[in-house]
Amino acid sequence: MKMVIVAGLAPMAGFTHRAFRRVVSEIGGAQLFFTEMLNSRIVSTQNPEKDHYCKDARIDRPLVAQIVGGDPEVIAAAIKRLEPLGFDAFDINMGCPQRAIMRHGWGAALLNDKKRAFLIVEKAKKVTKRPIFVKLRSFPGHRIEPLIEFSKGLEARGVDLITIHPRAVEDGFKRKAKWEELKWIKKEINIPIFGNGDIFSVEDAEEIFRKTGVNGILIGRGAIVRPWLFWEIVHKRPWPGSPLEVLEKVVHYILHYSPKEVHRRQLLLFLSWFLRNWEHHLYLFSKVKGWHDPFKILTFIREEIDKKGLRLVKRPIYSKL
Ligand SMILES: Cc1cc2nc3c(=O)[nH]c(=O)nc-3n(C[C@H](O)[C@H](O)[C@H](O)COP(=O)(O)O)c2cc1C
Repeated sequence: MKMVIVAGLAPMAGFTHRAFRRVVSEIGGAQLFFTEMLNSRIVSTQNPEKDHYCKDARIDRPLVAQIVGGDPEVIAAAIKRLEPLGFDAFDINMGCPQRAIMRHGWGAALLNDKKRAFLIVEKAKKVTKRPIFVKLRSFPGHRIEPLIEFSKGLEARGVDLITIHPRAVEDGFKRKAKWEELKWIKKEINIPIFGNGDIFSVEDAEEIFRKTGVNGILIGRGAIVRPWLFWEIVHKRPWPGSPLEVLEKVVHYILHYSPKEVHRRQLLLFLSWFLRNWEHHLYLFSKVKGWHDPFKILTFIREEIDKKGLRLVKRPIYSKL
């Protein structure tokens, strides 16, 4: 029997902007998209219609707005403001491990503040009819009971879908994601559970489905490096397109969708991962990282790859450089 895998692009600050989501959507195969995490304090006080972080790229659908924050009223106010923009669902970030986020009591800090986390969900459910999702990670020390209890509490308060990245804050990206935790959660929870973490190939996607029984998966780093991974998951064969053309499209859409002041940052962040597709990627990146002109960067990369005949690597590196 053919396995049908529902796969979406995981939210990633600095990466899952409109330009990149559009490219992933054009290649095809991804069935769910998320914005970068949107700061509830900013969204609740400013006009999101004017904020490029809050806009869609027309074909990146269904699109979920991911919200980060800790104050239930502020998050509810942010959702109210985002509602007219037509998002398909809202996702509350309860997994971000960054110190700058956690010190406000946001992101993964909410795992230690059940009362607040549940209140956030209750208020959010009151201000919108759209589905409310939550993205979680493992509890410290990979204790499974509190993760089950927390997930049950979310389910009882009407959360429509939970994504779990089974790594604890203290793991960073060093340890492998503990997919077995997804299986244990699946047994206890009735709403859809999406699994996330270390899915870099079609085989990984099939394995996580088979081993855990999750309802869907979100792919992060694997999709920055190979935005065609979703296509391969659907078609079960290597994508026949050209990675250089993907890069050209990303540049094109960044210039089209993003404000000038973020062009360079968005492009360099993308390149720091995407160039890993080729051998000698560190050399390529070190050459362009000080440059400002996207066309100069693009021309250099294209020429280097052609001139030196750089080959695509079979297994790109996904760890931090
Ligand atoms: C650069 C980067 C930015 C991220 N930003 C977010 C974010 O804004 N919101 C979020 O919920 N998770 C964020 N994550 C976590 C990813 O969504 C995902 O949970 C994690 O990368 C594990 O999936 P992967 O192994 O497929 O990369 C980020 C991850 C990376 C690498």
